[in-house]
Parts: sequence; structure tokens; C-alpha cells
Amino acid sequence: MNAMTDDVLVELARVKAVPVIRAGSIEHAMRAALWLAEAGMTVLEMTLTTPGVFEGIAELRRMPGLIVGAGTVLSRQDARLAIAAGSQFVVTPCWVEGVIEQALMAKIPALIGTANPSEIWHAHTAGAAAVKVFPAACVGGAAYVKQVRAVFPGVRMMPTGGVTVETAPDYLAAGAFCIGLGSELVSAKALVANDKASVVAKARQLLERLSPSQTMAV
Ligand code: 3PG
Repeated sequence: MNAMTDDVLVELARVKAVPVIRAGSIEHAMRAALWLAEAGMTVLEMTLTTPGVFEGIAELRRMPGLIVGAGTVLSRQDARLAIAAGSQFVVTPCWVEGVIEQALMAKIPALIGTANPSEIWHAHTAGAAAVKVFPAACVGGAAYVKQVRAVFPGVRMMPTGGVTVETAPDYLAAGAFCIGLGSELVSAKALVANDKASVVAKARQLLERLSPSQTMAV
């Protein structure tokens, strides 16, 4: 690992929660990002399904103290564009050829989507800085993370998909180094209704639930 990758991983392990922003428009995505930053979230994952997301990532990078990554990276070219826009980490939902190489060249972490032990080991040995255990709630939740961590203690895991404020601490207790939360924090309904208060309240509730004692060393 290099210094830049290390810094991002240390921050992910410190904050423990990565909000995954998936919105129908860049206006909504940016709105969500600013609300979450205001609530105290210092790491954001902007998913590439949002049209205009690269400009959004570049704009967020101008905000001091924020770590901005790209999610739903589905090709080598996606990774290139996300990195050119300033992404400080890249996340895939599954194995995607070329993403790890792009991340290694840019000296940023690649978090690779995995749903079973073979995929976890493949991603890890290929150079993934961490694996995104996805969709975490469907493949067995915190109990699944605990079991795979026992076999792969050296693999950083970021369970994502169906994680809630309620279940977040269970994943950390099971050995996850951080967790990703999407719709739980930023629902499509809240965005459409411009309901900042509910998004900020949910994010603060999450931050309160994540106690420092559950941090895993990177
Ligand atoms: C995603 O890619 O959207 C994430 O996995 C988030 O999933 P969630 O909305 O179930 O948290």
C-alpha cells in the first residue's frame, strides 16, 4: 500500500460509515452530499449511475475535509473517468476487469464487490484494498461477515446493501472495517420531497451509534 491509499483507508476505518449516494439526477445527488456533509459525514461515495456524476465528484473535491469516492464502477473506462474527476477511492458491485489496475496506478484504494468466499479471495489477491461484501443483508448479514472474517482475517471488508442504522454496529462487531449505507440514509422519497431534516437526522443517528471501540485497525 502507498501513503495516499493508506490515508483513505485510515479515514474509512475511522469514520466507519460510507454513505452511498444514488440519485436520479446530479442535482439530487449533490443535495444529498451537502446534507450528509453538514450532518458530519466526511466520506461520500457517488455512484456512477447518476448522470453528470463526474462533474459532481470534481465539485465535491473542492470541499475541504471531504473524501469522495466513486461507486458502481462497471468498467475500466468508468474507473479512468472517476479518477480523472478526482475520486479518492473506487467501489465496484462485482468483479470488473481493469479497475484494480487503474486504482493501483492512481495510488487510490479499489473496493471490489464480492458475494462469496471465492470472490473475496480473488479480489484480495488481485490487489483490492478491501472487498465490498454485497449485497450484505441478502448474503447473510453480520453473521456472514463474522464467518468469512474468521477465514480471511487479513481482508478488509465493507459490507453494503441492506445495512441499516440499527444493524450497522453488528457488522462492525463482526469485523467489518467499515460499512456502506445507501437508501437507509438517503431515500429517493426524501430527495424528491427535499426533506433535508430527515436525512440529516438519520446521518447523525448513525454517527452516534458507531462507537470508536469498534474500529478495526487497517
Ligand atoms: C448501492 O450500490 O446502492 C449500495 O449497495 C447501497 O445499498 P442500500 O441502498 O441497500 O444501502
